Amino acid sequence: MDKPRVLIHREEIEKKVAELADELRRDYQDKHPLLIGALKGSFVFMSDLIRKLNIPVEIYFIMLSSYGAGRETSGKIKLLQRVKTPIRGRHVLVIEDIVDRGLTLSFLLDYLGRRKPSSLKLCTMFDKPSRRVVEIPIDYVGFTIPDAFVVGYGLDLDEKFRYLPDLCVLEEQE
Ligand code: PRP
Repeated sequence: MDKPRVLIHREEIEKKVAELADELRRDYQDKHPLLIGALKGSFVFMSDLIRKLNIPVEIYFIMLSSYGAGRETSGKIKLLQRVKTPIRGRHVLVIEDIVDRGLTLSFLLDYLGRRKPSSLKLCTMFDKPSRRVVEIPIDYVGFTIPDAFVVGYGLDLDEKFRYLPDLCVLEEQE
């Protein structure tokens, strides 16, 4: 049985979302950006961020193949649902919950980059650089976190714990 222990409290997360929103507002004020999130994990951060951003944006979600069950991942990524709007010439900002090995983002940045956006940047709430397999440029980071399995704030273990408002680590319990 895994028991969640709070690593980053919801109030710290809320404060960080506001800070990131201030930075993004300055950078994207007049650019009418496309915000693209990878389902499912990014939906919580996306919904918090756009309400703090308070500038006109368009929102899309992309569906990638699941990593599979448990804590480890297959490493194979497939696009299950593409972005249904032209990307060429648009300012694209990818919104992620976490960058771990970097495989998802590497795939996504490549897919979007080939569609010739005016600009392509990445904003992630959590970054776990110790696990990186592929180096990717991250433009906006909320928290850099240690190498522990984290859940909550959109992140799951086998579809459980996404709803937790804090970022938590799972601790083994008898
Ligand atoms: C998680 C997370 C990121 C990705 C990061 O998604 O939401 O998209 O893993 O891992 P990486 O940097 O090692 O590629 P997951 O595939 O578990 O699907 P989910 O968002 O539906 O939970």
